[in-house]
Amino acid sequence: MARYEIHGGNTLSGAVTISGAKNAAVAILPAALLVKGVCRIENVPDISDVRILLEIIEKMGAKVEKCEPGVVVIDSTGPISTSPDEELARKMRASYYLMGALLGRFGKAHVALPGGCNFAARPIDQHIKGFRILGADVDENENYINLQPGPEGLQGTRINLDMASVGATINLMLAATLIPGMTVIGNAAKEPHIVDLANFLNTMGARISGAGTDTVKIRGVNGLHGGTYAIIPDQIEAGTYMAAVTAAGGNVLVQNVIPKHMECIYGKLQEMGAKVIVYDDAIRVISNGRLRRTVVKTRPYPGFPTDMQAQVCVCMTLAEGNSRLTESVYETRFFGYCKELQSMGARIEINGKTASVDGVEKLHGAEVEAHDLRAGAALVIAGLSAEGTTMVDNIHFIERGYENLIEKMTALGADIRRVE
Ligand code: EPU
Repeated sequence: MARYEIHGGNTLSGAVTISGAKNAAVAILPAALLVKGVCRIENVPDISDVRILLEIIEKMGAKVEKCEPGVVVIDSTGPISTSPDEELARKMRASYYLMGALLGRFGKAHVALPGGCNFAARPIDQHIKGFRILGADVDENENYINLQPGPEGLQGTRINLDMASVGATINLMLAATLIPGMTVIGNAAKEPHIVDLANFLNTMGARISGAGTDTVKIRGVNGLHGGTYAIIPDQIEAGTYMAAVTAAGGNVLVQNVIPKHMECIYGKLQEMGAKVIVYDDAIRVISNGRLRRTVVKTRPYPGFPTDMQAQVCVCMTLAEGNSRLTESVYETRFFGYCKELQSMGARIEINGKTASVDGVEKLHGAEVEAHDLRAGAALVIAGLSAEGTTMVDNIHFIERGYENLIEKMTALGADIRRVE
């Protein structure tokens, strides 16, 4: 099994270029199945979740071509299977977007329940509720979801989500794009990748408005045409590098970012003592590693992202005084990494939704294990900031979502390598 070996203590300097957003890519690639035509999709990150998804889509019958780094061309004009490979679908979370895409294009789908990072119970009742309101018959058991048109057929209508779910918003946008009539999603999620999906679909001829607000309107169209689209930069990958510089110290230009998406993240890093300079499409972070306490509560966008909880927690473990970190999206997310950080000398106490973190002077290297993607990224940051050697196991979680992490970190001066 491969692991990361990190010799901590180096400060980070230079520039890092952020890849395309994972959570946008895993929505946009299935969206290409709605298009009878050729989609050229640029800025696609080369990460294992994307590779699995492309394999699924190709096996379903679409033509998939990787013509140059970061560019994928998908042609879904020919016959497409509505039963994606079940073993592959179970390997990742976002395979559930195949449900919405297939329901929208073919009116039916037979999709295995998704796998992915299981840091919490991750129900999909809101996706299913939405499909039913659109007129689908949904048959579900512990392994599969089967979708077919109900007796009245599929028809656009209003769907109010019980919570602003990213996945349900995306799945219902995918389904509604080709369903006749107007679909209105109330209490929609507002994350940047929802806007990116709407922009992709609109480029291909969809009529979606309101993405990025809590009401998304989709006027069903008869068909979509091919086109070219570039995925937005990854907010969380950028935030991860910014947190790494804050914790380990250094001076790094984080390039290819949309600064607006980063406001909530860099605001907290500034509060903790990092110096942040914002340019048009880049952000410089400078830190001497001496950090101040802060208070963070994760929230849906535009709040502080739950996907940055673990990384900011590492900064807190090194900040002077007592910091408090409250999780409001996935209560059990602390369990994926706090024990590992404690084994590196961190002083963290978890009380329900809140972690109380007493900063220490230094973390020390240890053998730790990634339990999910962001938890794994946090352990890398901890290893870079710690004294001594850290071995991170279960790195397949990290490689799900960070393109060329070793190369990018090494270029910044980190002493990190992948060992078998
Ligand atoms: N929820 C329900 N029922 C549903 C859907 C969601 O109860 O039908 C609850 C969840 O349990 C959670 C909350 O609603 O408490 C929000 O879940 P959401 O549906 O928004 O999350 P998701 O779509 O499963 C996406 C990202 C996650 C990210 C969350 C929150 C993708 C593929 N995944 O998950 O990303 O943490 O939104 O922003 O977009 C990651 O990148 O590491 C990651 C886990």
